[in-house]
Amino acid sequence: MPPSNFRWDPDGRASFAGAPVSGLASAFGTPLYLYDETDLSQRIETYVQAFGAENIAIAAKAFLTGRLLQLAQEAGLGLDVVSEGELEFALRLGFPAERIIMHGLYKPPSALRTAARQDIGFVVVESPGEVEELVRIARQEKSKVRVLLRLAPAVDVHTHPSLATGAPASQFGVPIADGQALETVRQLIAAEDAIDFKGYHMHVGSQIAMLDPFISGAAAVADFARTVWSETGRWPEVLDLGGGLGISPDSPPPSALREAYETTLAGILADGPMPRLMTEPGRFIVSPPGVTIYHIVQRKTAADGRTYLIVDGGMSDGPRPALYGAEPEVAVSPRRGGEEVVDIAGMHCESGDIVRRDVRVTRAEVGDLLIVFDTGAYNHSMASHYNRVSIPPVVFVKDGVARPATRRDNLSDWLRLEVR
Ligand SMILES: Cc1ncc(COP(=O)(O)O)c(C=O)c1O
Repeated sequence: MPPSNFRWDPDGRASFAGAPVSGLASAFGTPLYLYDETDLSQRIETYVQAFGAENIAIAAKAFLTGRLLQLAQEAGLGLDVVSEGELEFALRLGFPAERIIMHGLYKPPSALRTAARQDIGFVVVESPGEVEELVRIARQEKSKVRVLLRLAPAVDVHTHPSLATGAPASQFGVPIADGQALETVRQLIAAEDAIDFKGYHMHVGSQIAMLDPFISGAAAVADFARTVWSETGRWPEVLDLGGGLGISPDSPPPSALREAYETTLAGILADGPMPRLMTEPGRFIVSPPGVTIYHIVQRKTAADGRTYLIVDGGMSDGPRPALYGAEPEVAVSPRRGGEEVVDIAGMHCESGDIVRRDVRVTRAEVGDLLIVFDTGAYNHSMASHYNRVSIPPVVFVKDGVARPATRRDNLSDWLRLEVR
């Protein structure tokens, strides 16, 4: 889906958030990540309308730069981090600690110590062993850490297997049915001097286009909350139901997700006050506003007759097609009339480096630009230096004005890491 301020000028050239794409490509080089700032802010607003800013922690893993943090902070959002690096990056750039939710299957002791010292919003624990570690560190730091327990809701989700995180076989969360989750709650309650146990977390998966898995997950969490209430008298203050809302045209809007959650929870948790309902969107907010721009650098014909367009980037800056079989929408600029069906390959020495197979585009020439849509999530954040290729810059564009957020890295940056 093109971002809301993407246009075709009358001469057939693409324009992005009020600026010609060709001008942006000349100014910043290609490959290039562009973000339509107005579109991004509108998508934040759509979520805010549904859930309230204070209940939203945007997922740093989907996309994280200083400018994104600024926009999130201005909108009153929180931040969901999943590693020490994301935590430290956000804190160093001045993101308020109390608005940070910390996840991670493994949180190094130093990260737990930072969380305790900085008194971050919540630490989401994933295992009994981690609870022990956190209690030890919180006691050393003489602090009391607000904690959510991540549950494994055992929900099968119809998405790519690598994007399903709530399935029974998942490594994430603590299983409910075998009693592990209840045991972990008892462990948390017993450490009340160091732990302020606030409630539960789930995240059933990503790129989900229907409400059912969210509803099943929320019901599993709410059922468990009732069990804990009857066993221990504890009623949850917070339910953080993760992210995962998809961006396909048939995906429900955030308002429908909110309604579905409320109806589900109200039916099960009628015996006490409705807990604070939190959410962690990533892709929904940052994917559609982002595009990647490449130059088409070669045309060639394969032995079986298919036409390849080769671009000057690929799986190092856009790993999702290779990782998840993503099939992003693409367009060639300028549009000079006529169409052709092509395969578009990245430049990497890897057969799997295919941007799109068998896709219809307007007839392309070497030197034209290829625009790949919906690349705002999980591309810059997953980019690599594979084949010693630079990570492209991120540029935000608003009302025709470009604002660079990161620069392209280069040989000097890499050489600085060498130990001789
Ligand atoms: C714990 C957690 N929260 C939120 C998200 C964001 O998911 P999405 O980008 O699909 O909204 C993820 C992504 O996998 C996650 O693991």
